[in-house]
Amino acid sequence: MCGIVGYLGTREVYPILIKGLRRLEYRGYDSAGVAMINGSGHLNVYKRKGKVSDLENFATGNDTTGTIGIGHTRWATHGEPNDVNSHPHYSQSKNIVLIHNGIIENYASIKEGLKKRGHTFESQTDTEVLVHLIEEIKQHDNMKLGHAVLAALNQVIGAYAIVVMDKNDPTTLVAAKKGSPMVIGIGENEFFIASDASPIVEFTKNVVYLEDEQVAILRRGEDLKIRSLKDKEVTPYVQQLTIELENIEKGGYDHFMLKEIYEQPRSVKDSMRGRLNAEKGIVSLGGIVEHEAKFKNAKRIIFIACGTSWHAGLVGEYLFEEFARIPVEVEYASEFRYRNPVIYPDDLIIAISQSGETADTLAAIELAKSKGATIIGVCNVVGSSIARATHAGSYTHAGPEIGVASTKAFTAQVTVLTLMALHVARIKGTLPESRFRQLLYELESIPTKIEQALKLNAEIKDIAFKFKDSTNALYLGRGFTFPVALEGALKLKEISYIHAEGYPAAEMKHGPIALIDEEMPVFVIATKGPNYEKVVSNIQEVKARKGKVIAVVTAGDKEVKGTADHTIEIPETDESLVPLVSVIPWQLLSYHIAVMRGCNVDQPRNLAKSVTVE
Ligand code: G6P
Repeated sequence: MCGIVGYLGTREVYPILIKGLRRLEYRGYDSAGVAMINGSGHLNVYKRKGKVSDLENFATGNDTTGTIGIGHTRWATHGEPNDVNSHPHYSQSKNIVLIHNGIIENYASIKEGLKKRGHTFESQTDTEVLVHLIEEIKQHDNMKLGHAVLAALNQVIGAYAIVVMDKNDPTTLVAAKKGSPMVIGIGENEFFIASDASPIVEFTKNVVYLEDEQVAILRRGEDLKIRSLKDKEVTPYVQQLTIELENIEKGGYDHFMLKEIYEQPRSVKDSMRGRLNAEKGIVSLGGIVEHEAKFKNAKRIIFIACGTSWHAGLVGEYLFEEFARIPVEVEYASEFRYRNPVIYPDDLIIAISQSGETADTLAAIELAKSKGATIIGVCNVVGSSIARATHAGSYTHAGPEIGVASTKAFTAQVTVLTLMALHVARIKGTLPESRFRQLLYELESIPTKIEQALKLNAEIKDIAFKFKDSTNALYLGRGFTFPVALEGALKLKEISYIHAEGYPAAEMKHGPIALIDEEMPVFVIATKGPNYEKVVSNIQEVKARKGKVIAVVTAGDKEVKGTADHTIEIPETDESLVPLVSVIPWQLLSYHIAVMRGCNVDQPRNLAKSVTVE
């Protein structure tokens, strides 16, 4: 959460900062700010509550010149979103400015000490305390900025990615990280710093991912220097970015979310590419090859994840139990990490995360690791903290996901989990060859079936119009589609602010049925499969109470069509693969409802894409 960006070089810094902040705005958008040192050594700081566009309006007409600067877009933790709490924050003398992503947990005690020594504070943030501390150390010990940052961070407990700039040294930026991501781009006589590669990609492909507890010193005309918090020199490891600029732009769509929904035939295909060959009967996942014995002998698999990734984990539970006959538990990372979970060394933990940065998931991994379990990652962002913290893993190849509501990451995760479950079933011999082969062919056809489901857009938009003013909604599914009901409800509530709940269809009788009246839309997945008749009965129960039923059904279905108010026909597929296709109508439906209600689809209120605080 919070996006940070910095630049030091020969170009005008302000447009780079603003463009970078726009690209990082998905990380938080309560307030934004920039700081630049101009050609005469003057430090200009502009910060504002609101979006990056509000900051731009505010800064227009003011001096924004300079070739060194930092920028921040905020998701508030300490202190409400207002102009004063916005970053950058000043030191006591106002000569040093700092931007921060994360939480300084011991800021209160540090602040007390600083206050006693005469410091005064303007904001309620933990960040301001850190920049005061850096300046105090710098002045007291007559240190260079880099060393002062290093010394200050040794006193800090918490998570951070920071960039610091000193008016009296306009040739240097100092950056550091622990538990929050940071990438440094290296160009010709210029450096870029950002929370992810999106502000950097159009300028250079050469990047260094800063590791935890490292401090980077970027100096004009010099090579990048990195030191550990223990003050040891570290040789920077320069990598090549693989993303392209077009991956992070809207490409003609009104919103990133819509673009990402439409990318799913491609992203699912990419997640299978080189891993699945139905004709030859092969599933191979290079990333977990060395751990095949662990999978084979695992007594239990535990999925840990948050949000939509947790829903993908639930689908994973059905897949692994059905195909590989391994008992599965699916845990919210935030719950798992704070109880005293029973973890055995032969447990296999599968951590799922789009961003690879979710703080709770990362902490849950560390806990399971400390108990000797093997951790497998299913991440989308290459080189992310979770990808690096796991023993092995398989990337989803969804490409950058920018819309806060996750769509293509979910289907890519489910695709990879399907491949994994099939692979393990093969190793364990738990699936008959003919069934295994049939599933491979079915999986290979999923991108085409998603494409067909996307063609229902106009029909779904009409349905959206009918239910856009609802205040509540219920989503039902059963078996493999129960997680899709949860995901459908989450999509609707997070972007359109309609209260929605996902439920296993049969559980409706134990509570939600009391809510049903003629105002209540009930979104049901009633595709052909072993549970079909039972779901049809659940639909009857809703209709008997005058609820409105909108059902996703298998193409050609007649029975539900006769009962439901609206049906959406998706192509037939194997029951175990239905989540990959049936989620598409719910994604489109929530998108259209949110647009019709005038909501900010890509940046829903209070949410952030990457939750790097617990
Ligand atoms: C946030 C995002 C969700 C995401 C969840 C987990 O809540 O808004 O879209 O599902 O975090 O994130 P992760 O990156 O770990 O999948």
